Amino acid sequence: MQLLDNGTYFTSEQAADSAPAVGSILDDDAIRALYSYPTQPDRPWIRTNFVASIDGSVTAEGKSAGLGTPADARLFGILRELCDAVLVGAGTARAENYGGVSLSAEAKARRVAGGLEPVPTIVVVTASGSIDADSRLVTDADVQPVVLTSAAADSSTVAALRSAGATVIGVSGESVSTGDIVATLSDLGFRRILCEGGPGLFGQLVSDGAADELCLTTSPMLVAGEAGRIAHAGVASDTPMHRAHVLGDADGTLLTRWVRRP
Ligand SMILES: NC(=O)c1ccc[n+]([C@@H]2O[C@H](COP(=O)([O-])OP(=O)(O)OC[C@H]3O[C@@H](n4cnc5c(N)ncnc54)[C@H](OP(=O)(O)O)[C@@H]3O)[C@@H](O)[C@H]2O)c1
Repeated sequence: MQLLDNGTYFTSEQAADSAPAVGSILDDDAIRALYSYPTQPDRPWIRTNFVASIDGSVTAEGKSAGLGTPADARLFGILRELCDAVLVGAGTARAENYGGVSLSAEAKARRVAGGLEPVPTIVVVTASGSIDADSRLVTDADVQPVVLTSAAADSSTVAALRSAGATVIGVSGESVSTGDIVATLSDLGFRRILCEGGPGLFGQLVSDGAADELCLTTSPMLVAGEAGRIAHAGVASDTPMHRAHVLGDADGTLLTRWVRRP
């Protein structure tokens, strides 16, 4: 991957000090530095990562994997390595058959050296509570997930999740508000958040002014079809963003990082 453009906005002094020259070929250390979170955030900092086609589709043949490229996969893994928690909507967890985060021994060691837990926790948001206790989220995870759900959740599903080892946190309303999400992440001590969508959850975060950052991969393909885009919500809203940087890969993939203007 090559640095095509360095914006003027840095979220940490470390990133500003070590910014590579435009045109540099980036190794994993350089990519980790470019995507470093703000130094010691005092609240959950919500970064979201998506891949989309050139024509704005969020899936190809029903899955985000259909849009994947080697550069996107590389960044996906690096972003997971940098976070305390992966925040994901239940629609995405179900559609993509999510398991827990899987990291190499080297990545775990780097995290521990940097003061993080060895493996990030998956936090799934679901109004209905419809997460199977025998799904990979629970059965194929080094760290048990947190299921953040509403008063509408089925009590037997919640009981099954708890007895399988998941942490289930219920809010009092029929849906989970952005305030509930941020307060829960904060209470759990998570500050570096990686939201992996989907469009429903991300749309809510954008509408509520809680999307701090977007890492958007543009996959070098057109797909047409009927798939939606990366954010949808009942009401449109404007969130001005800074361009932090643009990376490119030889196959045409573009990887951009955008940070919300203070
Ligand atoms: N291209 C990419 O990078 C990318 C990334 C992610 C997803 N996707 C694709 O996007 C599609 C899924 O889209 P989606 O909009 O359904 O995704 P989503 O936002 O993950 O799922 C929506 C569902 O998640 C739960 N949810 C989300 N926000 C909630 C909130 N604030 N409170 C309570 N529950 C909440 C609800 O689940 P319940 O029904 O359980 O209440 C809701 O029905 C899939 O095809 C997936 O492959 C693509």
